[in-house]
Amino acid sequence: MEEQLKQLIDETLDKIKTASTPDELSGIRVSVLGKKGALTGLLKGMKNVAPEERAAVGKIVNDAKSAISGALENAESELKKNLRSARLREETIDVTLPAKKKDLGHRHPNRVALEEVERIFIGMGYEVVHGPEVEFDYYNFEALNIPADHPAKDEQDTFYINDKIVLRTQTSPVQVRVMEKGKIPIRMIAPGRVFRADEVDATHSPCFHQIEGMVIDEGITFADLKGTLESFAKRLFGEDTRLKFRPHHFPFTEPSAEVDVTCFKCGGKGCRMCKGEGWIEILGCGMIHPKVLERCNVDTSKYSGFAFGIGLERIALLKYEIDDMRLLYENDVRFLGQF
Ligand code: DAH
Repeated sequence: MEEQLKQLIDETLDKIKTASTPDELSGIRVSVLGKKGALTGLLKGMKNVAPEERAAVGKIVNDAKSAISGALENAESELKKNLRSARLREETIDVTLPAKKKDLGHRHPNRVALEEVERIFIGMGYEVVHGPEVEFDYYNFEALNIPADHPAKDEQDTFYINDKIVLRTQTSPVQVRVMEKGKIPIRMIAPGRVFRADEVDATHSPCFHQIEGMVIDEGITFADLKGTLESFAKRLFGEDTRLKFRPHHFPFTEPSAEVDVTCFKCGGKGCRMCKGEGWIEILGCGMIHPKVLERCNVDTSKYSGFAFGIGLERIALLKYEIDDMRLLYENDVRFLGQF
């Protein structure tokens, strides 16, 4: 029995030494110390041992048991330690590496400029409305006092869907659509995309944006128009901004004007931004032509109104001191990311 025990201990310790996984170790534990294990089997054989030898043999068996359990425990904790440090090595994080930055998008300069213009007019009690980009020739031209043979139609040559439907050349048709609803007073701005058969260059694009404005109420005069646009320009370009109303012609307003603002870069002295002029043109405006009002059933004995049209790109280019409109449309993130 002693021989058997010695052999078992040696064999088991050898196995423990070469075991490389916790599973292997627990397999060894079961096969030796388990209910049907080898050592347990030997213990059961104690009943055949002569009573006077039992104590000595019992001691040997118990020693063997604790030697094997001890070796198993040591091996187990050693193995766990090794596995843990291997894992730590594998999962090492170099906290000194530079972080990977996520590319965050942001609003397009056109959008930023539009939101600023909207905010200013909303602050003055205006409503923001939208009209269709594909528009009846009637709303785009005829109702705005631009008959079929009018030269203004040449200037605003556009894309025809058929002979009655066009891609709108201006946001002014929204004026007509709002007037036709018949609710007065009106105080609205209508931003949106417009289209013209223009070649692309630094200041032209076949598709660009305008912001239309219109006010109709009792007793509206040119003074209201001037005051409104002055407040607007000062809010947008700074309190020192001055305005110049140059007489102009638009078929749907009478009188009409184009408005220049003092260059916010040089304050009017003349610089690269304003091409040495000191002034920058930003919009067209005027008192709504009685013919336009009457066609929309607005009672001209009671009501009058003014309108204006702002080029959005113009504002965005000025605001960000960009000198080529094409940059706004090319959508190169290296460019757009700067704003
Ligand atoms: N629609 C005009 C254009 O595209 C701009 C304009 C001028 C709009 C005068 C207006 C206005 O409302 O009163 O050139």
